[in-house]
Amino acid sequence: MKELFEKRALLITGKGGVGRTTATAALAMAAARSGKRVLIAEMGEPEEDLAALGRLFGRKTLSADPVPLARNIDGVMLWSRKGHERFISVVLPIAALVRAALRSSALRRMLDAAPSLNELGVFYHMLTLARAESPSGGPAWDLIIIDLPATGHALGLATLPDRVLQILPNGPIARAIHEGKDVFFDPEDSAMLVVTLPETLPVTECLELLEGLRETDMPIGGVIVNKVVGDEFTEAERDVLDPLVNDHDLFGATRFLGIGMVERSLRHLRESTGTPIWRLPELSTEGPGLIHGLSDAVLASSNDSGDVE
Ligand SMILES: Nc1ncnc2c1ncn2[C@@H]1O[C@H](COP(=O)(O)OP(=O)(O)OP(=O)(O)O)[C@@H](O)[C@H]1O
Ligand SMILES: [Mg+2]
Repeated sequence: MKELFEKRALLITGKGGVGRTTATAALAMAAARSGKRVLIAEMGEPEEDLAALGRLFGRKTLSADPVPLARNIDGVMLWSRKGHERFISVVLPIAALVRAALRSSALRRMLDAAPSLNELGVFYHMLTLARAESPSGGPAWDLIIIDLPATGHALGLATLPDRVLQILPNGPIARAIHEGKDVFFDPEDSAMLVVTLPETLPVTECLELLEGLRETDMPIGGVIVNKVVGDEFTEAERDVLDPLVNDHDLFGATRFLGIGMVERSLRHLRESTGTPIWRLPELSTEGPGLIHGLSDAVLASSNDSGDVE
């Protein structure tokens, strides 16, 4: 997976509960351990007690401006209102006017109500972070990893530029969209990664999401299969055990059958998609220990699509 660290942005998506936040933190930790300066981002209201990603680094909340979380890792809460504020300050370059504009509750209600405007705010916030420079020049972070909310938002973000450019082909919003596309939609610089579990339903949903994404300009980096349990049985052992497990109530049967499903789901995924596939193991820790263990796995990982390495 280390090849992913050469990108500027990784957008992490997938169905609820599959491990998007965990994968984001593990990738960030692995990239940071390889010497990259990383910014990780999640979406929500800043300073609210809902920063799942922040919590993995021992913080209750994250703010709309990046804060240090660990060595080489900063964290930020992507917030549509921050994007609106930054954008309006470009269009109306007088600070007092910006503040007055944003104090208008009618304007704020409009910005909050229109779904594309919310996504646009988040997109613009992402863009300002991608543009941010370090004091010595050059980008402030080598890599930005974004923990996107569940599936629908990924497609929303992937189709945002086209939707907005259709309505507003010119002007400052269009310019911002083009600039954002240059970073987040360029396969050299950016990749969307779909996290899934090695089970039938999540794999089916992952394939559906990939199909949806293929109709957009979003560069697809690959699939991360999370919580993979190693299969220690040989085919011959399975042939003997399968009928026994099916016919008798044996301790460990569920686990045994579950492990068989892991291999079947991985095969199904490999056969149905041409994108790279990586595995992350299921570990028996949680919190920072889990992230550190998974970052070891990221650093040791190789591509699982059968054709590389
Ligand atoms: N590889 C793993 N090994 C063990 N536990 C894991 C692993 N990956 C994730 N978990 C656990 O699974 C749970 C869900 O993970 P996580 O919060 O990262 O999922 P998510 O996709 O971000 O969920 P949500 O949709 O709620 O944002 C957490 O309790 C996490 O600790
Ligand atoms: Mg999450």
